[in-house]
Amino acid sequence: MKQTVLLLGATGRTGASILEALLVDPESFVVSALVRPESASRDDVLALAARGVGLRVVDIEGPLEPVVEALKGFDVVISTIDFTAQLAQLQLATAAKQAGVKRFVPCAFITVAPPGGVMHIRDEKEAVYQHIFKLYLPYTIIDVGYWHQISFPRVPSGRADYAVLHPGGPELHADGKAKNLLTDLRDVGRYVARIINDERTLNKYVVTYSDSLSEEEIYSLTEEVSNEKIERKYISADEIISARAKDTEESIANPNDIMPFLKRVGGDYQYSKYVRGDNTAEYAKYLGYLDTNELYPDFKPIKFRDFLVDLLQQKVPTISGKLPQMKAKK
Ligand SMILES: NC(=O)c1ccc[n+]([C@@H]2O[C@H](COP(=O)([O-])OP(=O)(O)OC[C@H]3O[C@@H](n4cnc5c(N)ncnc54)[C@H](OP(=O)(O)O)[C@@H]3O)[C@@H](O)[C@H]2O)c1
Repeated sequence: MKQTVLLLGATGRTGASILEALLVDPESFVVSALVRPESASRDDVLALAARGVGLRVVDIEGPLEPVVEALKGFDVVISTIDFTAQLAQLQLATAAKQAGVKRFVPCAFITVAPPGGVMHIRDEKEAVYQHIFKLYLPYTIIDVGYWHQISFPRVPSGRADYAVLHPGGPELHADGKAKNLLTDLRDVGRYVARIINDERTLNKYVVTYSDSLSEEEIYSLTEEVSNEKIERKYISADEIISARAKDTEESIANPNDIMPFLKRVGGDYQYSKYVRGDNTAEYAKYLGYLDTNELYPDFKPIKFRDFLVDLLQQKVPTISGKLPQMKAKK
């Protein structure tokens, strides 16, 4: 049966991946985009409308009633809101409940990690999940590991530099041996299309990944595919822990400043992925996640090796490094 889907974040990276995957399957999905008023007249938003994507323009942090109205008639609401604005989804979930949405997909889309002080953004997402549970709102929480697009090292020839999001690193963390789940950003939407069409994933956590690789393995694979030798630089676990503590302190002292917040988020990821070793299939299973490799054995994801081949041939679409504006904390 055809599902009506409202997507928040269609102009962003995760959202664009989901939008494309839903649009190629008009037999299964009719897609609309939830857009905030200040973005409604931007060219990329108008381009969505020109492609036949319905627009619902509303301020999700404004009065509740217009948000409920905007969500009425949708079977599925998906949020891919940026990492600085997670708590703006609290009212969105309330509105989804009141509008009778049959499946709410809050913005998870990160690595596997536990709530409770390991990653600040995971804890903000947790606040949204707990609100959903209290509302008794049907949900699916989808995590994707870390994107291929931000998991590769630079190669000496500079062939991959065009796709580097954050210049500088990445160095290898701790001993470089912690395994991590990886998904190509281009596959996120393909997975989401499968997951929201599947009753088995209702009221469940789901994890997607094409590979489980350590940084040592990523470096070796990149050397093999590029035929270039890559120098290894290591950051110790102690250095990660002390930098994370400093960045957290600085971000708390400057709550409206994006740069300390960004460093805090980065430090949390390093701590969770490489010191604690959270982002693994075994831990996901322990936490109760369904695994898309078991749900969809026929699904052919973009493997990290194939991503590297595309990357070195300069065929990987670049992802914007545009930072969201921090909203002043009340
Ligand atoms: N697993 C990974 O490796 C990885 C990597 C990066 C991010 N993530 C996660 O993925 C999630 C999405 O990140 P992203 O990088 O894909 O996002 P993004 O590219 O920054 O896009 C964010 C989207 O949210 C929209 N938005 C923000 N506030 C809004 C509001 N109040 N009302 C309506 N729309 C709003 C933006 O619309 P405008 O056009 O109006 O700005 C934009 O479309 C984040 O929560 C982050 O935790 C995961």
